[in-house]
Amino acid sequence: MGGGVLWFTGLSGAGKSTIARRVEAQLRERGERVEVLDGDEVRENLSKGLGFSRADRDTNVRRIGWVAKVLASHDVVAITATISPFRAVRDEVRASIPERFVEIYVGTPLAECARRDVKGLYAKALRGEIPQFTGVSDPYEAPEAPELVIETVGETPTESAARVVAYLEERGWIQPTVDRAGCEEGAAYAGG
Ligand code: ADX
Repeated sequence: MGGGVLWFTGLSGAGKSTIARRVEAQLRERGERVEVLDGDEVRENLSKGLGFSRADRDTNVRRIGWVAKVLASHDVVAITATISPFRAVRDEVRASIPERFVEIYVGTPLAECARRDVKGLYAKALRGEIPQFTGVSDPYEAPEAPELVIETVGETPTESAARVVAYLEERGWIQPTVDRAGCEEGAAYAGG
């Protein structure tokens, strides 16, 4: 698809990273150059030392946005997976990226994220042990006009990822895969 940014946003534990990794795999299979900027990894490296105040989250998101923009300018599909809870800075990042920008809202409801509680953080947050925890004691502003909304309840991560890839196909940004039989048939017509 050339350069672009797939910007996942949603609550902690919504499934952003899992879906992002599956999209990465599916796009790589099609020969795209892809890089995932995962929230947890970024916070261990590029954003080490930042906390979860609004100012720190905005700094984190701006850094990720900047790296994604640079990658996209080199024809890489940059896939980001951070909560990025504040609409204003998400929109700021979108405006700064001239390449294709796809905001993907992973809309897993809070109750479901808390039920899954993959990292055990919701239990702690609900006991008041983590201040400013997104969705519990800190805001999450859902996108108003995302390009895509993914509901993870009732579908597998692979199915969710396939919906992202299908969207890119619909937009004409990547070519639909044609099965081998179809290819050969096409070739026969072309030759005959
Ligand atoms: S963001 O708000 O700056 O976009 P980011 O996606 O990088 O957040 O990091 C979120 C991850 O940090 C969560 O999935 C969780 O594992 C961890 N975390 C630790 N403290 C908090 C908190 N107060 N709010 C949200 N997530 C937190």
